[in-house]
Amino acid sequence: MKAVVINGITPAEQVCISELPVPQVKPGWVLVRVRAFGMNHSEQILRLQEIEAPYIQKPVVPGIECVGEIENPSDSSWAKGQRVVALMGGMGRSFNGSYAEYALLPVRQVFPVNTALSWEALGAVPETWFTAWGSLFECLRLEAGDTLLIRGATCALGYAAIAIAKAQGCKVIATTHRAEKLSLLESADEAVLDDGRLTGRIHGANKALDLVGPKFLRDTLTTVDRGGIVCDTGVLGGVYALNGFDPIKEIPNGVYLTGFFSNTPTQAAIDEILAFLNKHRIDPPRGAVYDFADIRNACIALDQGKINGKIVIRV
Ligand SMILES: NC(=O)c1ccc[n+]([C@@H]2O[C@H](COP(=O)([O-])OP(=O)(O)OC[C@H]3O[C@@H](n4cnc5c(N)ncnc54)[C@H](OP(=O)(O)O)[C@@H]3O)[C@@H](O)[C@H]2O)c1
Repeated sequence: MKAVVINGITPAEQVCISELPVPQVKPGWVLVRVRAFGMNHSEQILRLQEIEAPYIQKPVVPGIECVGEIENPSDSSWAKGQRVVALMGGMGRSFNGSYAEYALLPVRQVFPVNTALSWEALGAVPETWFTAWGSLFECLRLEAGDTLLIRGATCALGYAAIAIAKAQGCKVIATTHRAEKLSLLESADEAVLDDGRLTGRIHGANKALDLVGPKFLRDTLTTVDRGGIVCDTGVLGGVYALNGFDPIKEIPNGVYLTGFFSNTPTQAAIDEILAFLNKHRIDPPRGAVYDFADIRNACIALDQGKINGKIVIRV
């Protein structure tokens, strides 16, 4: 099969397709024929730095999500041809992932789906929508009538979160750090240019999804109203930890801080997301679609940050 394999720091320009044997099934693992996969900021981080970490399998096929069909059900109860989505749980990091024609995946990370979405449209869903869904509903307890601040909204996750929150009946205030990208946020109620300080500039937000992360999280905590909830989900700011964080002084009284990690997706959440997309007739936004043969250019585009939204690869 054709697959991308990396073994060390790999700039996008060096990404290439190699030949690998089609993996053999083993108990608890099914073989998925990959039809499409979404790309993620985390794969850029893997190629450019995380690949050197001891917990990464080397060499590794990157890719933390895919959609496709069961090729060999192994000892699972699924039939060959069952449509599935798969994501996370070490995929593309501690075992080979989705940048390939076939992926051998643990049953716990594979979810059967019944949807009329095309492979391309479905390919935009698993990681991005599961993360947006969990952040908004499990962590932020989003309800109609809420005012949601999305910090760092010009990313795949941001566009999905805007779509969900608007369909849910919320007011959405979305930020970008680039003036030229304000027009990309027109589906939000307000688009705000983020210079690192939103405190005092934004009023009435009772929920905040922070995709910039620790770089500006302290400011997000003081931007939401008393009683508000802040969910830290992204690291677009390039800062991964809040060093020296003093929760007593830095979380304002009556403000709640939570975080979402997409590592443990559930069938229930996947089913709810697909039902929500269907009910609200939402076509999952895609920034660009590439053929697998063009994966190097897709990686270059990912690293350059020039695609506005989810990059989906057709396999
Ligand atoms: N917690 C979890 O489990 C989880 C799951 C999925 C993703 N994430 C995180 O969520 C974030 C979004 O992921 P994604 O896959 O949706 O990203 P993506 O679509 O690859 O978006 C990357 C783009 O975000 C833009 N961006 C917006 N605000 C930014 C800022 N303040 N600083 C730098 N870049 C900014 C950049 O473009 P411009 O600079 O041109 O605006 C960059 O091109 C990432 O940090 C990712 O690691 C977390």
